[in-house]
Amino acid sequence: MTSTVFITGATSGFGEACARRFAKAGWSLVLTGRREERLNALCAELSRQTKVLGLVLDVRDRKAMEAAIEGLPPEFDKLRGLINNAGLALGADPAPKCDLDDWDIMVDTNVKGLMYSTRLLLSRLIAHGKGASIVNLGSVAGNYSYPGSHVYGGTKAFVGQFSQNLRCDLQGTGVRVTNIEPGLCESEFSLVRFGGDKARYDATYAGADPIQPQDIAETIFWVMNQPAHININNIELMPVSQTLAGFAIERSKG
Ligand SMILES: NC(=O)c1ccc[n+]([C@@H]2O[C@H](COP(=O)([O-])OP(=O)(O)OC[C@H]3O[C@@H](n4cnc5c(N)ncnc54)[C@H](OP(=O)(O)O)[C@@H]3O)[C@@H](O)[C@H]2O)c1
Repeated sequence: MTSTVFITGATSGFGEACARRFAKAGWSLVLTGRREERLNALCAELSRQTKVLGLVLDVRDRKAMEAAIEGLPPEFDKLRGLINNAGLALGADPAPKCDLDDWDIMVDTNVKGLMYSTRLLLSRLIAHGKGASIVNLGSVAGNYSYPGSHVYGGTKAFVGQFSQNLRCDLQGTGVRVTNIEPGLCESEFSLVRFGGDKARYDATYAGADPIQPQDIAETIFWVMNQPAHININNIELMPVSQTLAGFAIERSKG
C-alpha cells in the first residue's frame, strides 16, 4: 500500500523540502499552504513523480481546515504521516516594543493551527496504526531563552509539551510522535520574521553555514522510516556555528 503524508506549510522551506524528499521515495502527498500559485506549481511538478493533492489552506481557519480534511478524497483517507510544519515568527524586538497582533498571529498559527491539523487528522493516522507518525516542528526556541523570542519561543515550548502529551494518549494505537527542534536554518522564515527586510535576512545567515531545509527533510524522512516499534521522541539540531550563548549579566555602571 502506498504511504501518504500530509504536510502543512509546503510552499517553502522545510515543508517544500519534505514534499520533494517524500515524493522521491514514492509517498503520496497532501500539501497545504496559503500561497496558491506556489502550491499549484509544486503540485504540478511533483505530480509527475507521485500522487499529489494540494489544499490552499490557512491553518488558523478552523472551519476551512475541518471542511478540507473532511472532504479528503478516499485515496488519501489513510495517513501514514503528518508533518505539522506551518509556522512563523514575527519580529524580534524586545517584548515591550512588540505588536500584540503579531503575538496573536504566532499563537493562532503555531499553537492553534497545529492543534487543528493534529486533532482533525488523528483518526486517519490511527486507522493506519503501526508505523504512522506525527512530526511536529518545534524549535530550540522552545528549549532555551534568547532576547526577542518571547511568544515565538512560548509557542514552540507548547509544541514540545503537546508532542510529549500526545504520546501518552496515543499509546496502543501504534502512532508515533516526534518533536523536531532546529536551530538556525536558512529559509524564508527570517524574511517573514523581519518583515521582508532582505539585508537583515542576509545578515542572519552570513558566514554561519546554517542548516538547510533539505537537511531537515532528511531528518524527518529518517524519523518516519524507523522500524515501527521505535519512537524518536525529539531531535534537537543546530549548525556547528551556533552555540548556546550563556547567561547575560546586566552590570551597574557605578
Ligand atoms: N528556519 C528556522 O530557522 C527554523 C528553526 C526552528 C524551527 N522552525 C520552524 O519550522 C517550521 C517551518 O519553517 P521554515 O523555516 O520552513 O519557514 P518558511 O520557509 O517561512 O515556511 C513556512 C511555511 O509555513 C506556511 N505557513 C505560515 N503560516 C501559515 C498559515 N497561517 N497557514 C498555512 N500555512 C502557513 C508557509 O506557507 P504560506 O505562507 O504559503 O501559507 C510556508 O510554507 C516553522 O514552524 C518554524 O517555526 C524554523
